[in-house]
Amino acid sequence: MINLFHTYIAAHAGETIQKVLNSGFLSEGETVLEFEKALEQSFGFTNCVSVNSGTSALHLALELAGVKEGDEVILPAQTFVASGLAILYLKAIPVFADIDYFTGNISLASVKEKISPKTKALLPVHWGGYPCDMDELNALAHSQGLKVIEDAAHALGASYKQKAIGSLSDFTCFSFQAIKHLSTGDGGAVCCKSKEDYTEARSRRWFGINREKAPLTDLGERAYNISQAGYKYHMNNYAAALGLANLQDFELRFKKRTQIADLYRSSLHQQSGIRLFNYFTDRQSAYWLFGFHVEKRMDFIRKLKSAGITASVVHQRIDRNSVFGGLTKGLSAQEAFDESQIHIPIHDALSLENAEYIINTIKQGW
Ligand SMILES: Cc1ncc(COP(=O)(O)O)c(C=O)c1O
Repeated sequence: MINLFHTYIAAHAGETIQKVLNSGFLSEGETVLEFEKALEQSFGFTNCVSVNSGTSALHLALELAGVKEGDEVILPAQTFVASGLAILYLKAIPVFADIDYFTGNISLASVKEKISPKTKALLPVHWGGYPCDMDELNALAHSQGLKVIEDAAHALGASYKQKAIGSLSDFTCFSFQAIKHLSTGDGGAVCCKSKEDYTEARSRRWFGINREKAPLTDLGERAYNISQAGYKYHMNNYAAALGLANLQDFELRFKKRTQIADLYRSSLHQQSGIRLFNYFTDRQSAYWLFGFHVEKRMDFIRKLKSAGITASVVHQRIDRNSVFGGLTKGLSAQEAFDESQIHIPIHDALSLENAEYIINTIKQGW
């Protein structure tokens, strides 16, 4: 079976992790710092703070953005539940905007309609790794005094108008969970535009204690006074070691992924029964997913399954969960998207031959 996802573990990862295990220093230490610096250098991130998951990154970012009980945060329903749950952790209200049918990303026009006096922040999600209209979203947010938190869980390595995703907005949150481009097992990062948020994020990821300013005293306890409740959200050294090992050939892997996406696009753009998603040349997708719209979706899924290929919707709109209050009315592009969106395999273990086999299978019809 050709799976939809793959967990990439570099051949030398075991060795790198073993070194950390041998050191006996498993928790947050030098390797975590090294990983953060490597991320900043490799991807052009600003002020990167690593954490133990993408969900923790979102929670910290929302809190640092000043989101409080009763505030509204606008996001798309086309995402994973983590994006909405992080808002609920703060007793704030997720407000679901419509999406662009041709990308799955949040619609600027819909965001404008959803802004109310209670709105505190925008939380765009780069669906499948394809960057949202960040210039427009940031300009709108600034004009209204709102914060922007990008959910870039799918978008490691993506760029927008030649600038790295991870350098554009108040906060950008990444996930290094098992099946993401770069895995630390579980893990994540929040990139902060301001140094103040960066310092505060570092402190709040570890109970609210600022390690640098809390030296060990002669009594054997660090000197600190927590003024704001923090969390146990830090990354640990062996996760960071896996991240560092997997980072080494990231560029090569990313190139291969892009090559497969290009092959899919050039081979399928005229395929009847398929409407590819839009890709504008002012941005580079991370291609965590390769999605499109398809007619007779169940037949398509069955046809591919019978040929040993997984096809999947990946995530369906999250507002259908009762925790979010049930389906939002009037999201017409989202409704149309729900009917026909589908994704085919794209990952590090997928060869060009595999991709050609998938294309040929699709071309046989369904
Ligand atoms: C869009 C999106 N946001 C956030 C997350 C949460 O990331 P994590 O699983 O690292 O907590 C995910 C996870 O897959 C995701 O797909």
